[in-house]
Amino acid sequence: MTKTGLFLTFEGIDGSGKSTQARMLADQLRLQGHEVVLTREPGGSPGAEEIRRLVLEGDPDRWSAETELLLFTAARRDHLERTIEPALAAGKVVICDRFADSTRMYQGLSRGDLRSLVDQLHNLMIGREPDMTLLIDMDPETGLSRAKGRQGTEERFEDFGPDLQKKMRAGFLALADEFSDRFRVVDGNRDVDSVAQDVTDIVQAALR
Ligand code: ADP
Ligand code: TYD
Repeated sequence: MTKTGLFLTFEGIDGSGKSTQARMLADQLRLQGHEVVLTREPGGSPGAEEIRRLVLEGDPDRWSAETELLLFTAARRDHLERTIEPALAAGKVVICDRFADSTRMYQGLSRGDLRSLVDQLHNLMIGREPDMTLLIDMDPETGLSRAKGRQGTEERFEDFGPDLQKKMRAGFLALADEFSDRFRVVDGNRDVDSVAQDVTDIVQAALR
């Protein structure tokens, strides 16, 4: 019998608490005895981490919208081949901080309507969706101030500013309606433990 793992993703605007919640969920599932791979995009494999630097650092206008879409998709393909698919085939739980829904939003919406191109490329080169996606919904101003508080060099997208954050929040909620079979929306405007409790309840129900 082939083992199949569980593929969970976290989505939401910058600073919504995805990384924090993904880490807490991974710790909790490991304590329960699950084998967990905690990973992220862009990145999650050596090649994709190299591409991460190309897309997240430097001038916001560094790439055309189309080139940027190709780079994110190349990173995802490598991540899928080298990290995600082998782990799922071994029956593990894969928790990924952002995946293709982020491309549908950021490359699909932020610089004109490229959603159809995003979908075509996804079907050609990726062709797989998560089993479940947790959308951490968040007030854009709070999200941006949390993200800015981290003081890193990966600020290409944060530099697009609050209007983009607002557009992304609305876009993610629309995406949750579009893919309502796999999306679960969690209110991120609360303390870390309350958000984590909701995440736990949702994932435990899915594991049963
Ligand atoms: P994301 O991965 O969505 O960008 P992070 O998990 O990195 O978000 O969180 C961004 C910042 O906000 C971090 O400094 C983190 O410690 C803090 N943070 C995360 N969740 C909460 C929360 N529920 N309340 C307050 N601060 C939070
Ligand atoms: P991430 O490190 O998750 O940032 P944050 O912790 O601030 O949410 O992702 C970095 C940026 O990459 C984020 O602003 C969204 C962007 N991004 C895309 O534009 N397209 C994609 O396909 C992915 C995965 C991320």
